[in-house]
Amino acid sequence: MSDIQLDARGRLQHLLTLKGLSRATVTSLLDQAERFRTPPGERVKRHTHLAGKTVVNLFFEPSTRTRSSFELAARRLGADVLNLEIAQSSAVKGESLEDTLYTLEAMHADVFVVRHKEEGVQELMARHALAHVHVLNAGEAHLSHPTQGLLDAFTIRRHKPNLSDLSVAIVGDIKHSRVARSAVHALTALGTRDIGLAGPKSLLPKKGELAGELFTDADKAIAGADVVMMLRIQKERMQRAAVPSERAYFKRYGLDAARLKRAKPNAIVMHPGPMNRGVEIAPGVADGRQSVIREQVTNGVAVRMAVLNSFYP
Ligand code: CP
Repeated sequence: MSDIQLDARGRLQHLLTLKGLSRATVTSLLDQAERFRTPPGERVKRHTHLAGKTVVNLFFEPSTRTRSSFELAARRLGADVLNLEIAQSSAVKGESLEDTLYTLEAMHADVFVVRHKEEGVQELMARHALAHVHVLNAGEAHLSHPTQGLLDAFTIRRHKPNLSDLSVAIVGDIKHSRVARSAVHALTALGTRDIGLAGPKSLLPKKGELAGELFTDADKAIAGADVVMMLRIQKERMQRAAVPSERAYFKRYGLDAARLKRAKPNAIVMHPGPMNRGVEIAPGVADGRQSVIREQVTNGVAVRMAVLNSFYP
């Protein structure tokens, strides 16, 4: 864990990674998220805890879910929100990240929500930020997507409260997945030991890099699982994974009704989105009775509210 993530009192100053976060910290964030969760169809509650604060979304990579839910989370807590359009910003004229940070700080930005394809950008910003400013990682290279890990753990806990007894299968391109890494870090913090990571050999992490048993046979990883988390496969990676086509990938690693039957009958099906329907998951499973994929999206807003709120105890 980064040495600047926690303040001198052990509270979150920034959220850069879930790796190494304590069970107590993760549990407290999930408990807070319960407070903020509004089921679909119900009127959302407005809070004022972040009134007078400004949250800036800096997304150097595309996003639907994370960016929208951070914006909604911040607004529902009463904050002002600025979505900086990177393509229209002075970043394209070569302005450095530090200068972008200093410029927005000078306009009273208090929280930066940052997604970037390069490693270490969020930490660099946190190291240069003013003492009262918070940096939140909204997706960093293949390494970290902490609020996704938290919302996944939150969704699992709502369905399967005893996390230490669970068997979780994560299937797909684990090697390049920040979602898989953050999910494993969250689950490990909460005591889950039985984690299976399945995918083509070239898309698996190095042995020992991540907690969990490695499988090239998806059926073995899914057998008896309580939770099946499917990951998006990037089409350009299939060739390198010796999977010649989407059809071939689906046959070996895709989750259809027959493969899902190998999991426990009450297993839940997850996917962080965006989904390639028919490539890693059958539409009937994505929309089926065991799917919690839309709940994950709903829970994402609550979890992001909890994280933002935690910066202002
Ligand atoms: N799960 C996720 O990070 O989705 P977006 O890329 O749409 O934010």
